[in-house]
Amino acid sequence: MAKTRIAVIPGDGIGPEIMQATIAILEATGLEAEWVELDAGLAAIEKGKPAVPPETIDAIREIGTALKGPTTTPSGKGHKSANVQLRQALDLFANVRPARTLPGVKGAFAHIHLDMIIVRENTEDLYAGIEYQPHPDVAQAIKVITRPGCARLVRYGFEMAREQGRKRVTAVHKANIMKLTDGMFLEEFYKAAADYPEFQADDVIVDNCCMQLVTRPEQFDVLVTENLYGDIVSDLCAGLVGGLGLAPGANIGEHCAVFEAVHGSAPDIAGRGVANPTALLLSAVMMLHHLGLHDQASRIVNSVMRVCSDGKCLTVDLGGRANTHEYMVEVINQSA
Ligand code: NAI
Ligand code: MG
Repeated sequence: MAKTRIAVIPGDGIGPEIMQATIAILEATGLEAEWVELDAGLAAIEKGKPAVPPETIDAIREIGTALKGPTTTPSGKGHKSANVQLRQALDLFANVRPARTLPGVKGAFAHIHLDMIIVRENTEDLYAGIEYQPHPDVAQAIKVITRPGCARLVRYGFEMAREQGRKRVTAVHKANIMKLTDGMFLEEFYKAAADYPEFQADDVIVDNCCMQLVTRPEQFDVLVTENLYGDIVSDLCAGLVGGLGLAPGANIGEHCAVFEAVHGSAPDIAGRGVANPTALLLSAVMMLHHLGLHDQASRIVNSVMRVCSDGKCLTVDLGGRANTHEYMVEVINQSA
């Protein structure tokens, strides 16, 4: 049988460490993949290339599926985010970020079973990156929202909700203040909702949404939202279910998909071999489902659940003492 070709961007900081562990776990399920390694982020810049080399974009477009480690973007200076560039160049318009409770994971919300999915628009909004300085003391950024951009994102959200048998789809916005931009998003949301009558479709203003998420998070099911709100709300939801070490994600386009964790390159713990690879691993599980490899996907999820509920081999971010390698070995053993 031909091997499945998968593009791999190890990324920066903890990226290479968690990527190595993730690939080892994937291969232990019997997955036969040809991993095509590509550069992006600081790793590319250090080789004298741009943050997203054109050959990286071409290769992902050709292969169709990529697994990506986090890439470092300096704040307030330096290169434009490799993520933003990749998402825009490949038109990866939907960022899907599930937030699910794993058994045994401790935390303020461990007593509530949470199972939410954030569907974040991924190419527009303030992340279009249009900033300028008309005066040394004035800086401006342009928020770009387009009707087709809203329409395809909300439709994707409803389609995904239908496929997964969800019940409620909620638009998160600030249309009371941003009447034209967020107003357009909300308008397209309710237009699409009319074609999906089986859902409770409603909306919530983003600040109220954050408050509700930390008081009654169990009420939410699928949240669809713009780029900036989605970025912030998805980290919040990751915190609700045990932290960034557990939160996976998928960037979906018409022709290709890039799977990556919600978290960044974690420079504070990089190089120490202690990062939790679960977020990237669960992103890889989303990739396996996307590739139709459901058996391998379920085996990995079951094994992660066993290791978490066991609680004996957890990484430091979850209050355990295991390092990345020990956790990886345990996940492989538990899936055998
Ligand atoms: P971060 O997500 O890298 O780290 C936030 C906190 O969570 C840190 O204390 C970190 O140690 C911890 N953490 C994150 N992932 C973890 C894991 N797998 N296991 C254990 N602990 C983990 O966010 P931060 O510090 O704001 O950003 C660092 C860099 O990452 C920046 O350059 C930023 O631009 C980049 N970034 C990249 C993303 C991507 O490539 N998709 C997404 C978010 C940030
Ligand atoms: Mg983020």
